[in-house]
Amino acid sequence: MTKFAIDFGTAVTKIYQLGSANGVVLAEATCVTVDKLTGEIKGFGNEAKKVLGKTAETNVIFPVYEGEIVNEELAAELLGYFLGKTGKKRGTEVMFCVPCGCSRESRNKYLRVSGRAGLSKVTFTEVPYLAALGMGVPVSESNPAFSVDIGAGKTSLAAFSLDGIIAGLNMNVGGNNMDVHIIDHIAQTYNLKIGLSTAEKLKNTVGSLIPHDHQSTVVQGRDITTGKPRQVVVYSDDIVRPISGYINTIVEYAELILRKLPEEVSANMCRSGIYLTGGVCEMPGLGDYVAERLQMDAHVADDPQMAAVLGGGRVLGNPALLSKLQMQ
Ligand SMILES: Nc1ncnc2c1ncn2[C@@H]1O[C@H](COP(=O)(O)OP(=O)(O)OP(=O)(O)O)[C@@H](O)[C@H]1O
Ligand SMILES: [Mg+2]
Repeated sequence: MTKFAIDFGTAVTKIYQLGSANGVVLAEATCVTVDKLTGEIKGFGNEAKKVLGKTAETNVIFPVYEGEIVNEELAAELLGYFLGKTGKKRGTEVMFCVPCGCSRESRNKYLRVSGRAGLSKVTFTEVPYLAALGMGVPVSESNPAFSVDIGAGKTSLAAFSLDGIIAGLNMNVGGNNMDVHIIDHIAQTYNLKIGLSTAEKLKNTVGSLIPHDHQSTVVQGRDITTGKPRQVVVYSDDIVRPISGYINTIVEYAELILRKLPEEVSANMCRSGIYLTGGVCEMPGLGDYVAERLQMDAHVADDPQMAAVLGGGRVLGNPALLSKLQMQ
């Protein structure tokens, strides 16, 4: 039987196929384009995301927002498209990687969307476990871990052992907020209007939390006063504030959780450190930045963006672990 772990992320959908040579068989934008007049679907995934901000005829829609399915119809169409690309067979078993504490109402949305996409065997496991397992953390019943997953629309923080979540929370904060803030910042600093795609590219190429990092790139935009196209050179330092503000908030919440933990667990966490995953943790210097603020070790996954779905693959391949971790 085909078994998939699916991370239906705000920005990127990742699919892991158990037993396949590469593990991760799909990573594409969670995005659909729809004709503005007729409502007809025009494109899916990475192809759809390419037209963001470039066409007046189509709406670019992200059916998952801040980690939650917000458009069931398009989510089902998109999921069906992705599964078709992976060569889904009848009787496919799927485990969704969902945010910490995902509500029954949210899971029902997944179930309805899965049903429309032709899936019947569906289970759910929370991201904090999967992210840590995906980066190879030796978490067990007696060895708790603290993981923070910073995605595009959601950050999941949790201290947990294999017996359950000890303390955790979700914040509707992630890379998308940084992109929007970067747009405002470039407008104020350079009197230049840039689009969302440009802001995201800027963050992902020169965004850095290494002190005095001097990466730079040329950014195209529109002069706010004259309306004419213009370009500027933007350095890492220029956009550090719109990024670090969000990371500081995440660190504050991590501290809050650490303070609430029973003393022995907290001592264990301080020894082992914190585990960082999610696409935003690709940013250079992020691990050291967090470690310095928390005054404890911070380990960034080798492949932060894929960690949760890789953990999903591990859990899928271990039925005893799956039955222990899946949400009831
Ligand atoms: N090098 C990089 N530096 C900073 N951010 C990055 C980098 N590469 C990717 N990102 C950001 O990571 C985010 C995507 O990460 P990820 O795939 O973990 O999110 P998601 O799972 O789709 O979202 P969520 O978990 O919030 O539902 C995007 O905001 C993207 O711009
Ligand atoms: Mg995610």
